Amino acid sequence: MPAEQFVTALNEQIGREFGASQQYVAVAVYYDALTLPQLAGFFYRQALEERDHAMMMVKYLLDADEIPVIPGVGAPTAEFADIVEPVRVALEQEKRVTDQISSLAAVARQANDFVSEQFTQWFLKEQVEEIATMSDLLAVSERSKDRPAEIEDYVAREHSADTSADPTSPAPAGGAVG
Ligand SMILES: [Fe+2]
Ligand SMILES: [Fe+2]
Repeated sequence: MPAEQFVTALNEQIGREFGASQQYVAVAVYYDALTLPQLAGFFYRQALEERDHAMMMVKYLLDADEIPVIPGVGAPTAEFADIVEPVRVALEQEKRVTDQISSLAAVARQANDFVSEQFTQWFLKEQVEEIATMSDLLAVSERSKDRPAEIEDYVAREHSADTSADPTSPAPAGGAVG
């Protein structure tokens, strides 16, 4: 049985992962409307990944005989000053989530709930990658702010549809959508 404090904290994180997913849909739609299909595609895929993170947490609770609470989410930021700002918003979001997952791990450890602590490890590793990806994209976007085609080329080159499944990732409730 997971520690009660961990169940509460994980339920809160489920809401934040769905919130992150909605934020990425809003960013994808912004780029799609500007006919920047590579950036749009990249963020549509990120949105699905965040949704999967939430569903992995849902499954962890279900498998532990806990009832996951599916919360509503606040409206995402949908208006941006320029094409760089959404990437800045994304990087800030990933940094915030890293702090949140670290707190989750700390809650598990303090409660001597080592199984739950272990569950958080994959997410921490994932955050390292996502922060690296977003800070690289931010650097490229700032440099090529006035030449969107260069940003599009970069995304196409570095982040074309990634179909390689990570065999170490926890399974999402309901199976993978991708
Ligand atoms: Fe996430
Ligand atoms: Fe993320």
